[in-house]
Amino acid sequence: MVEKREIVVLGGNLGGISIAHYLLKYTIPQLERLDKSVSYHITLVTPNTDIFFKIATPRAIINSKLIPQEKIWRPIADGFTKYSNEQFTLVQGLATGLNATARAVTVTSSGASIQSLTYHTLFISTGTTSASPLWTLHHDQTISSNAIALMHEKLPTAKTILVAGGGAVGVETAGELASEYKDAKITLLSGSTRLLGKAYLATAERAESYLKKTQKVEVVHNLRVEKSEVRGDAMVLTLSDGSTRTVDVYIDGTGGVPNSQFLPSSWLDTDKRVETSDASNRVRGDGSVEEAKNVYVIGDIVAKSDASLMALNCHVPVAASSFAVDIAGAGKAPGVLRKLLGSSSSLPVQKAYKQAMPNTFVVPIGREGGVGQIMGYRMPSIMVKMAKGNSYFLEMIDPILTGSKW
Ligand SMILES: Cc1cc2nc3c(=O)[nH]c(=O)nc-3n(C[C@H](O)[C@H](O)[C@H](O)COP(=O)(O)OP(=O)(O)OC[C@H]3O[C@@H](n4cnc5c(N)ncnc54)[C@H](O)[C@@H]3O)c2cc1C
Ligand SMILES: *[C@@H]1O[C@H](CO)[C@@H](O)[C@H](O)[C@H]1NC(C)=O
Repeated sequence: MVEKREIVVLGGNLGGISIAHYLLKYTIPQLERLDKSVSYHITLVTPNTDIFFKIATPRAIINSKLIPQEKIWRPIADGFTKYSNEQFTLVQGLATGLNATARAVTVTSSGASIQSLTYHTLFISTGTTSASPLWTLHHDQTISSNAIALMHEKLPTAKTILVAGGGAVGVETAGELASEYKDAKITLLSGSTRLLGKAYLATAERAESYLKKTQKVEVVHNLRVEKSEVRGDAMVLTLSDGSTRTVDVYIDGTGGVPNSQFLPSSWLDTDKRVETSDASNRVRGDGSVEEAKNVYVIGDIVAKSDASLMALNCHVPVAASSFAVDIAGAGKAPGVLRKLLGSSSSLPVQKAYKQAMPNTFVVPIGREGGVGQIMGYRMPSIMVKMAKGNSYFLEMIDPILTGSKW
């Protein structure tokens, strides 16, 4: 008899899809070769049916032609056709509870049907939810696609546009708007004393002067939107200095909250992200080993992670190696032996997370250039355009969806 073990992956976007592919392609075959009495099955649980390539939304919101919605939404199921039902199942639903003792996740699907999925191994990649559905999924994916379509409708005739949030999303969005809508007056509120809080000040200052050069964008610091109200065709905003401002379009580009409400609070840090016990993506749990055994976390929901695809791409092989080591033990067959037996028979190797490209930011501002830093060095505008500004990384969606990137 072959023992079947269930791996539940929570969150089906950039992280969840990536880890599922990585496990199916490398880790599970390796473990099944090492111990033929056990086989593994993955259930990917997520409320969206399509992958959402959110990285491209600052340009995709501009109009329906620059980056059509078909290019940023693709059915998740299409990425897993090569796997059988014995290997992989996609469940459309939202994790709404978790019993760590019973090792079970409560999953709520539309129509309020509720099921309990027990897991042998759990991967959490539920990311964050931004205030606006333009940047992250808000459960039902039509909320995001409709929000993007509404921008296509409103922006062409807008005379005044206010973007809140001085991070990469706000800066990129203001730059895209200035590139396309020459007659609109665009205001960008940084919400703090500067733009791009995570980048070097010099990079932030270059971004600000780049935006100024467009002569379309006014950057305002130390002012936030406290309240927004629809009034007729316009938006009335109440600002943190008590003033009000009426604009044709308001775009909220401020950050998000971690999707960790369904997890035990003892697993979370003060920012509500999931704490790890080591640099290899193992979940700490409440401190007892048993509770968080074989539970791993990747992506934006990881405590202290820099919430980027670059970081996520490092988490994936590391978390998979932790899972493999926790099952089969760590080790490395000596070189000669490995050649004889083939690498397939070697034991898993533990990998540890190391930031691949620290101090790297690539922020296009419109279609002609932008600002960036690579490993702390200044990135020339033309390189920003070539690296991200031309395509907004759209060439990445297919390799992520099908797993061919791994
Ligand atoms: C506009 C924009 C531009 C970006 N540009 C860059 C860039 O240039 N370079 C870079 O490195 N990074 C960039 N990023 C960051 C990058 O997109 C994220 O780091 C990455 O998407 C993180 O993946 P994730 O799987 O952790 O989260 P997400 O991709 O957000 O996926 C989370 C998934 O979990 C699902 N989910 C949520 N709650 C639950 C639940 N309770 N149960 C089940 N499923 C749930 C969601 O529906 C979603 O499918 C950008 C992000 C944005 C928004
Ligand atoms: C969690 O599961 C355990 C073991 O099955 C059970 O005793 C306990 O009541 C459950 N907790 C909750 C809150 O349902």
